[in-house]
Amino acid sequence: MKKETKGASHHVPVLLGPAIAGLNLKVDGWYVDGTFGRGGHSGAILKNLGPDGHLLAIDRDPQAISSAPESLRNDPRLELLHGEFSEIRRYAIERNMLGKVDGLLLDLGVSSPQLDTATRGFSFQSDGPLDMRMDPSKGASAADWIGTVEEKTLKRVLQQFGEERFSGRIARAIIAARSEAVIERTAQLAEIVRQAVPARGQKRHPATKTFQAIRIFINNELAELESALEASVELLRPGGRLCVISFHSLEDRRVKRFMRERSREPEPYRGLPEIPPEHRPPLKLIGKAISPSDEEIANNARARSSHLRVAERLSCT
Ligand SMILES: C[S@@+](CC[C@H](N)C(=O)[O-])C[C@H]1O[C@@H](n2cnc3c(N)ncnc32)[C@H](O)[C@@H]1O
Repeated sequence: MKKETKGASHHVPVLLGPAIAGLNLKVDGWYVDGTFGRGGHSGAILKNLGPDGHLLAIDRDPQAISSAPESLRNDPRLELLHGEFSEIRRYAIERNMLGKVDGLLLDLGVSSPQLDTATRGFSFQSDGPLDMRMDPSKGASAADWIGTVEEKTLKRVLQQFGEERFSGRIARAIIAARSEAVIERTAQLAEIVRQAVPARGQKRHPATKTFQAIRIFINNELAELESALEASVELLRPGGRLCVISFHSLEDRRVKRFMRERSREPEPYRGLPEIPPEHRPPLKLIGKAISPSDEEIANNARARSSHLRVAERLSCT
C-alpha cells in the first residue's frame, strides 16, 4: 500500500509558471479555469488579476468545489461552478462572454486528492470501492459498469483508452472473475489484472493501464476534451489564449492535432501575404509543447508525463 505523506487534500499544481506565462494575463481580463481542482492555477491567475479581472473556475467534482479555500471562495473576482468543461460554450453564453474570454486553461485528468482518497476508487495502490467517477452524483460507477459489460466492449476500452497490449487476456480474466464474485474493490480488480498478465520485468504496476482506461471511459474524458477544444475557438476573443496541460499521449495527441489543424493556413492561400478574413485560421501556435523541468519532476512525480500546449486566438476580421 502507498503511504499518504501529504494528506489527501493536497495537490501540487503542474507546470504552474509556464501555464501562467502561456495565458499572457491581462490585469482586467476575463479567464476560465476549466479544471479548478484544489485551485493551484486559479489562485495564481487571481494573484495576477486586478480588481476588474474575473475568473470562472469549473470542476465536475463536487468535492473540489466544496474544498475551495476561504481565501479563494471570498474573492469577488472568482466564480466557482460545479459543472463539466464540455459545457463552457453554454456557461459563456449565460454570462454574455462568448467571444470575450481572454484565456482558457485546462489542466486535464485527476487531482492528487482524487487519486489519494481511497474511497474515490481511482487507485490500485490503496484499496477502496471501485467507483472512479469524478462526479459521483452522475452516471455508473466502475463497479457497476464492470458488473455488466460485455467482454468485447471491455477489451476495446482497455485497448483504446489504456493502449493495453494484454487487453484480451485482462478482459477475459475480469469476466471470469466476476462470475465467481462481484468485483467491487480496487484491490480486487488490481489483483485480477496482476494475475492475468505475464510478470516479466514491468516498471509500472500491471494494472496501471487498465485503471487509466476504465477511468477515461467512465468519465468520458476524451469526448469532454474534444468538446472543450471545439468550443474554445468561439469562446476566446482575438489575442485570447488556450492553454492545455495533458498527462498522457491520448490527450496530448488530441490537443496537438486540434491546435495544428486550427492554425494551418488553407492550402490555396499558404504563403500569400493576404488571406481573406473568412479563410484565415482561427488559431496561432505559441511555441512548442512545454515539459516540466527535472527539478519540477523531482519535487512532484505526478508532473512527469505532463505537456503544456498553448495557442492564441487570431482575429478573423
Ligand atoms: C489535474 S486536476 C486540476 C488541478 C488544478 N489545476 C490545481 O492546480 O489545483 C484536474 C481537475 O479537473 C477536474 N476535471 C476533469 N475533467 C473535467 C471536466 N470534464 N469538467 C470539469 N472538471 C473536470 C477534475 O475533477 C480535477 O479536479
